[in-house]
Amino acid sequence: MAFTLEKLLRKNILYLKPYSSARDEFQAKAEVYLDANENPFGSTGLNQAYNRYPDPHQQALKQQIARLKRVAPTHIFLGNGSDEPIDLLIRAFCEPGQDSILITPPTYGMYEVSANINDVRVLRENLNEDFSLDILRVLQHARKEQPKLVFLCSPNNPTGNVVARIEELKYLAQHFEGIIVVDEAYIDFCDEREFSALRLLYDCPNVVVLQTFSKAWGLAALRLGMAFASEPIVQILNKIKPPYNINEYTQQAALHALQHASEKELMVEEIREQRWFLSGELQKLSFIEEIFPSETNFILMRVKNANELYEYLLKRQIVVRNRSNQPLCHNCLRVTVGTPEENELLLQALYEYTEQLY
Ligand SMILES: Cc1ncc(COP(=O)(O)O)c(C=O)c1O
Repeated sequence: MAFTLEKLLRKNILYLKPYSSARDEFQAKAEVYLDANENPFGSTGLNQAYNRYPDPHQQALKQQIARLKRVAPTHIFLGNGSDEPIDLLIRAFCEPGQDSILITPPTYGMYEVSANINDVRVLRENLNEDFSLDILRVLQHARKEQPKLVFLCSPNNPTGNVVARIEELKYLAQHFEGIIVVDEAYIDFCDEREFSALRLLYDCPNVVVLQTFSKAWGLAALRLGMAFASEPIVQILNKIKPPYNINEYTQQAALHALQHASEKELMVEEIREQRWFLSGELQKLSFIEEIFPSETNFILMRVKNANELYEYLLKRQIVVRNRSNQPLCHNCLRVTVGTPEENELLLQALYEYTEQLY
């Protein structure tokens, strides 16, 4: 099935003349920079100088990410968290009041919120009761209603499971004319991370893969998200992003982090071990009815009374996420895997909750 970017894009975006920053217009090295109305003296209160605008195209950072992910830098868009490309994709492709996106609840909430902000309709194709995804049903729905974007989160938040395998994603992308966004925020915690949808990048020009530095890399506060896509889609995102969307500190810190990728691997291993330990301990508690298998850094569990348990944990100064109001998640709490000490505190509180019950 032919995928034509021009047909999918909003017309105003197709014809948009983007803002051209001082750093866009002059990129070579110079002696004196008097082109961007910066303060020439330095940065208030800091030894490190942040008085110059950052590279709007984040070239050094993209080079390193490209090496790590084995994709060309021209296939990478960097956003202020992956929430930014989610919003930009909706803004680029969906005409407010007219177009739609398709999501597969229960899933990450920002797809719907971004759609609502942009006055874009949200179509839903729920996961099955066991949280698996019926790709053919998604395809049928998408071909009937023609959403501009289909958002699939895999491994999925809040259910924790991989919902779509590479072959299924490829089939979907090849039989649907819109864009398939595969959100892989949790891919690093996955057993089969080499099966990331990144492998579809060169075969499927309508697939966008989102990843983030917020989870496995431990850099949530920096706000750095990645979108991998065909070059024309990356160019569109670049055209509509705020000029300096990734600040200088974030660019420098991420470059540093990329040189220490082995630390990330160690943390991921530790989190996976703790996830295994925590799941095992939680299984033993009588008020926990189901622990859902997780390929992420969190565990979804169904309990007898989620609201009561949530409130109890809050009183113990332990915050988890109550997902009970999500489709198919009746009485479900989502617990992030913490440090061994944090997990022990959680378990201790849960043991004492059990004692209270009897
Ligand atoms: C599935 C999923 N996608 C994206 C995000 C947002 O990531 P970022 O911090 O990069 O905006 C989250 C955050 O929890 C998430 O769960």
